[in-house]
Amino acid sequence: MKTKSEFLSEEMVKLLNYRVEQEEYSARIYLSMANWLNDKGFAGAAKLFKDYSDEELVHADKAKNMLLANGIRPITPALKQPKQDFLSLPDVLISALDHEKEITKQCYALTKAAHTEENFMVVELGLWYCKEQAEELNKVQYFIGRLEAFGEESIMLRELDKEMGQLAK
Ligand SMILES: [Fe+2]
Ligand SMILES: [Fe+2]
Repeated sequence: MKTKSEFLSEEMVKLLNYRVEQEEYSARIYLSMANWLNDKGFAGAAKLFKDYSDEELVHADKAKNMLLANGIRPITPALKQPKQDFLSLPDVLISALDHEKEITKQCYALTKAAHTEENFMVVELGLWYCKEQAEELNKVQYFIGRLEAFGEESIMLRELDKEMGQLAK
């Protein structure tokens, strides 16, 4: 198979561009959640979700840099419009957890494909993404645990919002 890069097969290039797209799309999803939370008065949670959005762009840069290091220009993707409406703060958290589960599957698939090709550069990057996903799942799971422990009454949501705000940068 003829490729433009000595170390990245066409499949690796495709998967790395997919990582860029999906991480940038994650940023849009969390930005949409931050906007909804802000609009509904969850100022603390909104701040934290804006941080999450910014962090996703850092994740996207990791895959971009791997492409650039190998002489491949990353594709700047068109992103579909993320969901705009949510039911409640718990709904936002559950949606975020579902999304992170989906992303974790993608990161596993990237790492597995790189391992099959014995592309150890990309294996190492894939493992970084997988490790990052454990943190991503944990941070959402933590808040869902708080909801399960203390309920979803507005007084409790207010406390949770405050706690989330304290964790924001
Ligand atoms: Fe990410
Ligand atoms: Fe994430």
